[in-house]
Amino acid sequence: MDAEDIELELFVQALKLRHGYDFGQYARASLKRRVNDLVKNAELGTIGALTSRVVHDEAFLPQVIAGISVPVSEMFRNPEIFKALSAEVFPVLASYPHINIWQAGCARGEEVYSLAILLEEAGLYDRTQIYATDFNDHVLHVAQEGIFSVHEARLYAQNYLAAGGKHTLSHYWHARYERVKLDERLKRNITFANHNLVADGVFCEAHLILCRNVLIYFTNTLQDQVLGLFRDSLVRGGFLALGNKESIHFSANAREFLAFNSAARIFRLGPSVGK
Ligand SMILES: C[S@@+](CC[C@H](N)C(=O)[O-])C[C@H]1O[C@@H](n2cnc3c(N)ncnc32)[C@H](O)[C@@H]1O
Repeated sequence: MDAEDIELELFVQALKLRHGYDFGQYARASLKRRVNDLVKNAELGTIGALTSRVVHDEAFLPQVIAGISVPVSEMFRNPEIFKALSAEVFPVLASYPHINIWQAGCARGEEVYSLAILLEEAGLYDRTQIYATDFNDHVLHVAQEGIFSVHEARLYAQNYLAAGGKHTLSHYWHARYERVKLDERLKRNITFANHNLVADGVFCEAHLILCRNVLIYFTNTLQDQVLGLFRDSLVRGGFLALGNKESIHFSANAREFLAFNSAARIFRLGPSVGK
């Protein structure tokens, strides 16, 4: 192990011992990149100096969590996935009198607002509760505001049409200067909450869990653990949507999931297991 890798392991241990955040099962290559970015941005010189700051300066923690988290997202990211959810999953959800959806790793809210719009257009939103969670308080705060730049909004408007949206996306926002603010009404059935997939337990009894581009940062061991959490959080016959580079085939805890739409990475909890 070289000196920098040793420093990285000590940093991970310090964060766990001092603050209870466990990054021990995050894939090392991307973790190292983000920790080195933190070192650079905080002008600390070495990971060792970062560790010392993390141990002695409580107020520095949010900056560390924000730096390690990668809140990159888009509204209707991979539009074909949202099209598949609308066309194939929503008709099943429509059979429930009340629908619970858990969106884990919600970043700045891009996906949760996308879901809310499509559910509204499918006539399902008024009986749906969406729980949008992340372990980064800063992005949760931004997500709650529902404000994006005009530049981002242009891309999102294209994605929305490709996802099968029924209007134009501007139907759901008010533009002001260089920003757009999403319609407040979209928030009416969304609860934003802090939840750490590594440490926290079952969140709700969900009919659909959307967790895209989060597991990709975890080792297989942690992915397996989180897939077990998702299995235990879904009703029988519930759906799990993952990112398009994520898979469940290696996971013992995911044996009870059946492929529902493999291209869209949508799985369904088998009917004879689960709750
Ligand atoms: C790349 S973004 C994915 C955003 C969105 N799901 C998408 O696919 O566009 C990853 C998100 O996962 C969150 N995240 C990372 N580790 C987490 C953990 N242990 N618990 C909860 N959220 C986590 C990050 O804060 C970040 O917002």
